[in-house]
Amino acid sequence: MSEIISMLNASTGSAAEKVRTLLRSRSGDGRLFRYYVRTFGCQQNEADSEKLAGLAELMGYVKTEEPGAADLIIVNTCAVREHAERKTLSIIGQYKHIKENNPSLVIAVCGCMVGQEHRRTELKMRYPYVDITFPPGSLHLFPGMLLDRLRGGKRSFAAEPEQPDVAEDVPVRRESSYRAWVSVMYGCNNFCTYCIVPYVRGRERSRRPDDIEAEVRGLVTEGYRDITLLGQNVNSYGRGSGSDCTFPQLLRRLASIEGDFVLHFMTSHPKDATRELIDAIADEKKIAKQLHLPLQSGSDRILKLMNRHYNFGEYRDKLAYLRERIPDVSVTSDIIVGFPGETEEDFEATLEALREVRYDRIFSFIYSPRSGTPAANMKDQIPDNVKNSRFERLVALQNEISLEKNRQLEGETLRVLCDGVSKGNGGMLEGRTEQDKIVIFAGDPSLSGHFVNVRVTRAETFNLYGEIIK
Ligand code: SAH
Ligand code: SF4
Ligand code: F3S
Repeated sequence: MSEIISMLNASTGSAAEKVRTLLRSRSGDGRLFRYYVRTFGCQQNEADSEKLAGLAELMGYVKTEEPGAADLIIVNTCAVREHAERKTLSIIGQYKHIKENNPSLVIAVCGCMVGQEHRRTELKMRYPYVDITFPPGSLHLFPGMLLDRLRGGKRSFAAEPEQPDVAEDVPVRRESSYRAWVSVMYGCNNFCTYCIVPYVRGRERSRRPDDIEAEVRGLVTEGYRDITLLGQNVNSYGRGSGSDCTFPQLLRRLASIEGDFVLHFMTSHPKDATRELIDAIADEKKIAKQLHLPLQSGSDRILKLMNRHYNFGEYRDKLAYLRERIPDVSVTSDIIVGFPGETEEDFEATLEALREVRYDRIFSFIYSPRSGTPAANMKDQIPDNVKNSRFERLVALQNEISLEKNRQLEGETLRVLCDGVSKGNGGMLEGRTEQDKIVIFAGDPSLSGHFVNVRVTRAETFNLYGEIIK
């Protein structure tokens, strides 16, 4: 069981204070020190970046959206697929010129990519302008490492400790004033054979239910309307944490907080999705009627090779109970094509699963071998052209299904949380429903952050269009 530390009382708080004092002593002419954060990867990383921004501000930096104007650049990286890593490295490469113009700039690289030793070595040897790296479970190392570097210390490249702490009280600078991420647990124990996450984020550790409840209460009081609980497998929340609160119990506890808000959560591993979980979603009004339940493949043979611990029949049974309890539930999934050894028949089984389940939306991925994972060494790696053509077939089928499902919503009135003016839609507003459907409609930008009722007039594959109902 990992230790829960209260951050600001610990060395992190004092290091942050020392950085602040140091910056003040260097800002004789009253100049400001600016930080810039670039984030890759999933919601967990977005949530971490809000903490990194909180720490930077605690240390006296002010935010900039311009890397060229920054005194501190933080790159929060992802390692889930090769494409993500390549893109990140090329962005880091561009910062070289910024450092040439401003030698006092500090470049910090953190997140999942630097949880891998070979990437740390690569950054150390081939990116001499990168000053520090720290792994995703150790955000609280950041102020101490930065302080050391600002005082003229060596470049440093920290590895993840065996069992990282669960740090509470890290200041958070949230991007939105009405949508918030709340991590409930960190790490993953599942070791799906394709996946790098357990290697870079370490073993599962859960936050205390009291700490989570206090955070959510605080957010609701501040006016947050949409709160997403995060964990790689929220269904194993609490295991081994010394608390006997399960995830469904946690959900019910949070849903009973007074106020006008909606709770989302991700991700649910199908092997651990229980009737209790489904009952909680069905019973509690404040829990979104939506479930992200990643199937990954429709072939039992591939699921086994992936180490997923369920077969399609079991998955189908869970879904049947879900739809029995919540007929209008929205269901989404992640699907990987081109896992090693995937035959045409296996892939057909995935297409068949899509036809049967009729997801509202899927996130589809081309299998990317990750060094150090078992699947990377499996024989029968699938050639790129086969992967690409399967990917296209998968997307084409799902697009048809998504469009058909969206069309069923035409004429209905949905409650939408408005996100303000939509990009590229001629000044129209955009928002998302409780079921995570994107809706475009005309209205006043001041509606941003408020719930509105919108009648759907037209559906497309990815968006719904509608008009506000007074
Ligand atoms: N913990 C979550 C998601 C983690 S990563 C879960 O279990 O669902 C998000 C998605 O990326 C995964 O669901 C998977 O579909 C995809 N993914 C992970 N590793 C991958 C790889 N090596 N190649 C392609 N897709 C991958
Ligand atoms: Fe990766 Fe599997 Fe863990 Fe998800 S559950 S993070 S896919 S190992
Ligand atoms: Fe997320 Fe990428 Fe890490 S998907 S958990 S940031 S490897």
